[in-house]
Amino acid sequence: MKKGIAVCLLIVLAAAFAGCGGTAEQIPQAPEPTSFASDAAPVSTAEPAPESAAETESAEPSEAEQTAPEDEGEAKTVVVFFSATGNTRRVAEKIAELTGADLCEIVPAQPYTAEDLNYGDSTSRSTVEQNTPSACPEIAGEISLDGYTTVYLGYPIWWGDAPRILCSFVESHDFTGVTVIPFCTSASSGAGRTGETLGELAGTGTFLPATRFGANVSDSGLQSWVDGLEP
Ligand SMILES: Cc1cc2nc3c(=O)[nH]c(=O)nc-3n(C[C@H](O)[C@H](O)[C@H](O)COP(=O)(O)O)c2cc1C
Repeated sequence: MKKGIAVCLLIVLAAAFAGCGGTAEQIPQAPEPTSFASDAAPVSTAEPAPESAAETESAEPSEAEQTAPEDEGEAKTVVVFFSATGNTRRVAEKIAELTGADLCEIVPAQPYTAEDLNYGDSTSRSTVEQNTPSACPEIAGEISLDGYTTVYLGYPIWWGDAPRILCSFVESHDFTGVTVIPFCTSASSGAGRTGETLGELAGTGTFLPATRFGANVSDSGLQSWVDGLEP
């Protein structure tokens, strides 16, 4: 009986620490920006992220899977995203649905609270991180890009830039042979050079310029964007 309880505990702990496809339990509501006009839709906390197929990818494949001929040369796509208040998550989920890609969330080891996201406070965690170019917030779990040739990379704009946790992500992965398609959501700011900057930090791979979406971008708007990316 005791052994059974211990096994259950282990399973629960393992699930809690899984990186790819993990779901932030609480999505803090960011305060409305004061220094930029907002077109952000109300944040939905209702829908959890779909279970990530990429999680399966990170598992050690069996010998048979590694040598399966149908896997050879197959182009695979994943949508990797960070979202503090749900807007980028919704866009990421839609892109994954439209492209048939896997979905993988960048989960901060230390979740961002509403206080952390208070850009009206010069001492809040997000403000301090964004003002510290060397800041490298830790990511929970492992994200494996093995086998992927295209990565859609989504994030919110924080103070005109990508959140520092994106730097942690690109600096800790090898994008050799991978095309990265950055996209972001913001209240009003453009994507700026965030795509190029992330590419420079990564040092490998082909990073396209980032595309910015409003939080309320329509499904058809995303479909046209995806269609326009195809060669
Ligand atoms: C710390 C912080 C800084 C932000 N800075 C900007 C900004 O510079 N320009 C802008 O248009 N929106 C800014 N926003 C608004 C977010 O970019 C916008 O709400 C985004 O859609 C949030 O995405 P998420 O819900 O996926 O986290 C900021 C939000 C936060 C929390």
